[in-house]
Amino acid sequence: MDKKKVRKVVRETYGKIAQVQGNCGCGPSCCGTDTKQFAKSIGYTEEELESIPQEANLALSCGNPTALASLKEGEIVLDLGSGAGFDCFLAAAKVGQKGKVIGVDMTPEMIEKARDNAKKNGVENVEFRLGEIENLPVADNSVDVVISNCVINLSAEKPRVFQDIYRVLKPGGRIAISDIALKRELPDKVRQSIEAYVGCIGGAILIDEYKKIVEASGLGDVRVTIKGTSACIDSNTKDPIGRAILDGLGDGKSLEEYVVSVYVEGHK
Ligand SMILES: C[S@@+](CC[C@H](N)C(=O)[O-])C[C@H]1O[C@@H](n2cnc3c(N)ncnc32)[C@H](O)[C@@H]1O
Repeated sequence: MDKKKVRKVVRETYGKIAQVQGNCGCGPSCCGTDTKQFAKSIGYTEEELESIPQEANLALSCGNPTALASLKEGEIVLDLGSGAGFDCFLAAAKVGQKGKVIGVDMTPEMIEKARDNAKKNGVENVEFRLGEIENLPVADNSVDVVISNCVINLSAEKPRVFQDIYRVLKPGGRIAISDIALKRELPDKVRQSIEAYVGCIGGAILIDEYKKIVEASGLGDVRVTIKGTSACIDSNTKDPIGRAILDGLGDGKSLEEYVVSVYVEGHK
């Protein structure tokens, strides 16, 4: 798929989602359930969800990377595709005032929403920067942990994303990433649909390919672990993203046959 077109449509789609909640974004958010219920189904606890600004959870995630990242006080954390700040606020509580969390997102409306959430809730150890994950607005060797939640599947340049992650990590730094990956190749109709792409399905790659891309960046001890199905779309949805995915799969085929949520770990 054309890189420029992908970037434009992703930005437009997530810009609208930042303003009007309830639209389908990533496949999982087409569930039809409420955002809190959905977050619980992918591993967030009631306590975590109560501890962060409610507007930060847009039900666009596919796992809970901060629960698995073993974050420590004082660490510098970078969240790729931070959306309204969901995981940044959880990470900020874990690293404390001696630490810092930087969220990067290329959609101005998401950055504005995240900054607003931080301001209204008095969270001072987070910073949101407008930028692309293929070209991070972050200094070399400056970050302890890179987290990300359901974003890298949306990049048309995945090897570049991991090369830039390698650049910004301190020696010994680590990644803790939740994302969507494939068990088997998607039907062409889904693969060629821009709606399915921005819905976090069409841009997903096979698990083995994912691991190879991460390893090629220079990161070591790479593990890609299947965490669940994390893809539910109401079969009656009228949303164009949900419809493109379901109609593209064809009768009798379910998303679960193709898609899994994964947790990706590695070290510099
Ligand atoms: C599915 S949402 C996930 C948001 C957040 N991680 C969460 O779990 O709530 C994807 C986010 O990634 C951002 N994004 C997608 N592609 C990007 C890119 N190439 N560079 C920077 N941000 C990107 C979108 O603007 C959107 O906010």
